[in-house]
Amino acid sequence: MSDVTPATLVARAPGRVNLIGDHTDYTGGLVLPMAIDRWTEIHFTPRPGWIDLRSDDEPDPVSVALPVHDVRRLEPRWGRYVAAVAAEMGADAMGIAGSVSTDIPIGAGWSSSAALEIAAALAFGHPGSPLEVAQLCRRAEFAASGVPCGIMDQLVIAAAVDAHALMIDCTSYEAAPVALPVGVDIVIRFVAHRTLEGSEYGDRVAECNRAQAVVGSLATAQLADLRRIDDPLVRRRARHVISENQRVRDFAAALAADDIAAAGRLMLESHRSLAEDFGTSTPVMDAAVAEMAARPGVWGVRMTGGGFGGCIVALAESGAVGAADGWVVRPVGGARVVNAD
Ligand code: GLA
Repeated sequence: MSDVTPATLVARAPGRVNLIGDHTDYTGGLVLPMAIDRWTEIHFTPRPGWIDLRSDDEPDPVSVALPVHDVRRLEPRWGRYVAAVAAEMGADAMGIAGSVSTDIPIGAGWSSSAALEIAAALAFGHPGSPLEVAQLCRRAEFAASGVPCGIMDQLVIAAAVDAHALMIDCTSYEAAPVALPVGVDIVIRFVAHRTLEGSEYGDRVAECNRAQAVVGSLATAQLADLRRIDDPLVRRRARHVISENQRVRDFAAALAADDIAAAGRLMLESHRSLAEDFGTSTPVMDAAVAEMAARPGVWGVRMTGGGFGGCIVALAESGAVGAADGWVVRPVGGARVVNAD
């Protein structure tokens, strides 16, 4: 580890919460996440040939020579995420020395790993578009963790538009800013720590692929196609994905029409579908959703992100949910490099 001279630049990447459209991205479907006002920051200066980083949240620093080839056995483990980004960038990765800090809860379903990857790509000087950065970081996530994730987290973190959520078509990668209605809060409540590594996430991806082998792309399949799927489990998984894609469209239309009650109902339907058809909720999450849904001023609530723990997200009247019961988060723009002040 070298002495770190005064940092000159900061790569900042926000966390994210998904309002609706979960477990649809890896089959090319629709998602509607927003980047939130919590950030991972890398303060850095150039350090040719090396990545030297310490983290406020980790006991051990990362020190890796460039170019990086294999990240699977790298220690400490958090270094795998940054090293995998450097490995994907190859000769384009510029060495840095610096420090990582974050106010995104780690391992809680707010996409802390995707934020770290995107911040790292920007700090290493990735020259491409937000979509190219996101695609590279998605590959890095897989290399670092083995989780075959979709593009949602990385793309919203790289490409978000200030004060808007983003409806993303995960086949064309078109991303349309979606304004949030005036007078509503987006509230996140943490339920349980989890990691998607070693979870059933990969099983869900495989089950969706089995469905697609019968009906073709789930992004364009219709509910009527479900009868062609013999396996009842695979049919239920597909029913979630097909119906969730429609809920994303309906949710965006409800927000555009200022019909917040309809948007809230769609969130509750999304949760039911994820719990009953897709099997990514837990009893503790179901109880948290039911408790939050019963509160005055809450329009809708659902699990958010990969599931098996993590967080729930609610759409509520401004001020209806107090600070003791969740975090009110605000939509922010995507990751960027700024001058340290
Ligand atoms: C995780 C993955 C995303 C997405 C969600 C579920 O956050 O990283 O790609 O699949 O789960 O919607």
